[in-house]
Amino acid sequence: EKEGFDHFMLKEIYEQPRSIRDSMRGRLKAREGIVLLGGIIDYQQKLVNAKRIIIIACGTSWHAGLVGEYLFEELARIPVEVEYASEFRYRNPVIYEDDVVIAISQSGETADTLAAIELAKSKGATIIGVCNVVGSSIARATHAGSYTHAGPEIGVASTKAFTAQVTLLTLMALMLADSKGTISKSRFNQLLHELDDIPGKVEETLKVNDKIIEIATVFKDVRNALYLGRGYNFPVAMEGALKLKEISYIHAEGYPAAEMKHGPIALIDEEMPVVVVATNKGTYEKVVSNIQEVKARKGKIIAIVTEGDETVKALADHIIEVPETEEMLVPLIATIPLQLLSYHIAVMRGCNVDQPRNLAKSVTVE
Ligand code: M6R
Repeated sequence: EKEGFDHFMLKEIYEQPRSIRDSMRGRLKAREGIVLLGGIIDYQQKLVNAKRIIIIACGTSWHAGLVGEYLFEELARIPVEVEYASEFRYRNPVIYEDDVVIAISQSGETADTLAAIELAKSKGATIIGVCNVVGSSIARATHAGSYTHAGPEIGVASTKAFTAQVTLLTLMALMLADSKGTISKSRFNQLLHELDDIPGKVEETLKVNDKIIEIATVFKDVRNALYLGRGYNFPVAMEGALKLKEISYIHAEGYPAAEMKHGPIALIDEEMPVVVVATNKGTYEKVVSNIQEVKARKGKIIAIVTEGDETVKALADHIIEVPETEEMLVPLIATIPLQLLSYHIAVMRGCNVDQPRNLAKSVTVE
């Protein structure tokens, strides 16, 4: 059932052009200029009127939630708070009846996420689920929701579920922006077309695999790694670091690039690999200066850049080129090389990639 791949994780990484397409099927109609989310249509008005959205999740799903925060705020102009389910549920949070809570969970069985939902529900909030497993406890506990349709994810390290979650949050944010009138029709249509092209671009991105194997060979024995990104790439950096930690047991930290100078910069020496997600357009110059700060301290830069980039290429030790897309859609592409990097490093270190030590696929304990 691994379909010729050595591990489920690798198979699931390679499935992403299809799984992303599946999560958009019947929902994104780029040619007609329509986003339709049948599962939440009855609650669309609640979302449109929401003064605030609270996203609750754990782990990788929480990272998807962070991308969601940027999307909802930029496109639909709704304030968003992204909460670790475990922190939210134990701190007597302020919840209003007109809050909309979006709970994100691949398994739909995460104990803390489920308990946080019950708490928000008891305060009268509307709960929307973004789950992968059909009929799961979380899917049943929510008022409405949309399944990610990524298909079964067997590898403990979440890969295709993450990109499906981000895809779905993008669709939700676009749908809301359209209903609220916070986006022009032409920009809306442009984004729908660009989203429609993402599966093809992910396919293209997977061709970096050989390059990643080279890079993994160089860095497989390091003890620490730093991942940096700004804006939409900040959650991507955190997700990249989590992937490396959980399957290769290398200590890694994901940081907003500008925060580096407030502490982590002290860690940098000639042994320290710093993975920078540098595809940004808006803050490109800022990312370039962050890279210069690392180079000045002799850190090793592995940079993910947009095809054709020259400036970062001249500074970095290793370059991974990915296809160009809209800044807000970059997480769907830039995440792929980071998944592959952690995968190859883990394999080279002889780790059990699909079932890393101490981890379970669904965390049903609190
Ligand atoms: O099933 P869920 O999405 O609720 O799971 C949340 C986390 O346990 C999960 O994302 C975990 O962090 C993964 N192992 C990450 O790869």
